[in-house]
Amino acid sequence: MNAPTLQGLTIQAPAYVKNAKLIAWVAEMAALCKPARIHWCDGSQEEYDQLCQQLVDAGTFKKLNPAKRPGSYLAWSDPSDVARVEDRTYICSEKKEDAGPTNNWMAPNEMRATLAPLFDGCMAGRTMYVVPFSMGPLGSPIAHVGVELSDSAYVAVNMKIMTRMGRAVYDVIGADGEFVPCMHTVGAPLAAGQKDETSWPCNAKTKYIVHYPETREIWSYGSGYGGNALLGKKCLALRIASTMGRDQGWLAEHMLILGVSNPEGKKYHVAAAFPSACGKTNFSMLVPPQAFDGWKVTTIGDDIAWIKPQADGSLRAINPEAGYFGVAPGTNYHTNPNCMASLNKDVIFTNVALTDDGDVWWEGMEKDTGVMPAHLIDWQGKDWTPEDGKAGRKAAHANARFTVAATNNPALDEAWDDPAGVKIDAFIFGGRRSTTVPLVTEARNWTEGVYMAATMGSETTAAAFGAQGVVRRDPFAMLPFMGYNMSDYFQHWLNLGAKISAQGAQLPRIYTTNWFRKNADGKFVWPGYGENMRVLKWMIDRIEGQAQGQETAFGIAPQYAEINWGGLDFSAEQFQNVTSIDKAAWIDELKLHDEHFAMLAQGLPRELLNAKADLEQRLSA
Ligand code: GTP
Ligand code: MN
Ligand code: MN
Repeated sequence: MNAPTLQGLTIQAPAYVKNAKLIAWVAEMAALCKPARIHWCDGSQEEYDQLCQQLVDAGTFKKLNPAKRPGSYLAWSDPSDVARVEDRTYICSEKKEDAGPTNNWMAPNEMRATLAPLFDGCMAGRTMYVVPFSMGPLGSPIAHVGVELSDSAYVAVNMKIMTRMGRAVYDVIGADGEFVPCMHTVGAPLAAGQKDETSWPCNAKTKYIVHYPETREIWSYGSGYGGNALLGKKCLALRIASTMGRDQGWLAEHMLILGVSNPEGKKYHVAAAFPSACGKTNFSMLVPPQAFDGWKVTTIGDDIAWIKPQADGSLRAINPEAGYFGVAPGTNYHTNPNCMASLNKDVIFTNVALTDDGDVWWEGMEKDTGVMPAHLIDWQGKDWTPEDGKAGRKAAHANARFTVAATNNPALDEAWDDPAGVKIDAFIFGGRRSTTVPLVTEARNWTEGVYMAATMGSETTAAAFGAQGVVRRDPFAMLPFMGYNMSDYFQHWLNLGAKISAQGAQLPRIYTTNWFRKNADGKFVWPGYGENMRVLKWMIDRIEGQAQGQETAFGIAPQYAEINWGGLDFSAEQFQNVTSIDKAAWIDELKLHDEHFAMLAQGLPRELLNAKADLEQRLSA
């Protein structure tokens, strides 16, 4: 039989692809996007190597010195395409109120009419990669399958590391299984005979990151950057999955998951939500200080958690990803040795600097070597010397990232891909705040914890396009990733707590943290990183009933003597500096909570207003 063709394009799927809906959709999308060819990814190592070589030939990848960094590549993006674009991200639910006031919204019909001409011919001259992937272990009842059609080989190879990608996914969806269709284009079609003038094609003018929650579709146009282009991650595993969770009674969260074992071998699991570039990857790979002999921290996930209530009232969490897309700058052997060890081989780096001997470099590595490299090529391909550094020019972009398989992590938890997940004992919500918010507090109850998470503020970082260092409310660290109405989401959390309590089961504790308070000189007071173990241990002591803590207006805080200070010189006065609650500052902070709640007024749970009234009363007492 002849392969079906479309204007000379062969669209026939390999024999092992049996899903009729998928084949029809690929044909329909090929007719719309008009690629020059179609490549059905099988996810094999040979395919990965071949696509990487193709990216090297196109100038997108530089192969790093195999003696220094085997199996690794460096990509430099277009300088305009370095972060998520929140102002171009849309939740196109049928009703505007279902997207809520924190999301950009457009009616689905209107958005479809906007995107149709953009996608018409958008892949001209390029290959359309068919990228089948599973978020969560293959075939597991909690996993969800997606198929991304992309005209970027960079996307295909990153998806191979970040997800379970390849041929086995076709077996999972069989002839009629469900998948989330994910459309992605860099938005840079080539005319006949035209060649790319750049090694990072993207559309500098037009970008759209679009979600249709009712039909569970994702359409991404114009960007090749991670969060905008690797559609399994923020788009599927958070925005689309959060709406699935709302409808089906579970949670999709911007949380790391870690295991922490004490010297007796008792193990706890903690899920922590910090906004982008606020310490999740670091915390999930924490190496305890020497004073914590016998304690061990292991990584289940570093960015996303899917959490499902069980029949016995427990909450079990899985990491739907298979790799880490982490922030490089600031990472070194002092701050995160497990991460550095993960990056020894088989890594894709994006927007870090290149050394003269063919290795990578980023700000923070000088802490390991004691010296700045004499010469580098910076992330924009320009010569860089320490003089440039002194003048404030960074060699690596502040949001430079690595893509690496979870299996590279020496601290990987043995249950990291267990389809049953791990039982969560505590949640942490933490922002980046130079003032006001104390190092750690424990919520007195679930509702207070939900209040703390719902009103969390954080200073913006380089992970998203826009001004940096501005305090904004980032409820649950989910502001950029919420697929539905934020107030409904708060209610969803409250309902879950009520359901578990009604079952008579133990609810996980809820904590808030802030590693980022600064002193008058603008320096971080808390040493952070591995030293965060001291706070984690206090949380476990609380769970075990071994730390009394002290009541504050904003939850229960540790007493100085309850923290193990072994090997760290941290005075009671410094402790006071990171834990004090300044009433005047909190009264100002509450005005921001008021504004936030006014914006979210429609559907805002009454319990949260009550929790706020309680907090006000405690502050004025
Ligand atoms: P996304 O991957 O964007 O969601 O961010 P993330 O939450 O994983 O943040 P990550 O762990 O990559 O940390 C981001 C930045 O915060 C890096 O520059 C780190 O060096 C810095 N950082 C992480 N943990 C700490 C800490 O405990 N104290 C201080 N001062 N900085 C930290
Ligand atoms: Mn993230
Ligand atoms: Mn991270």
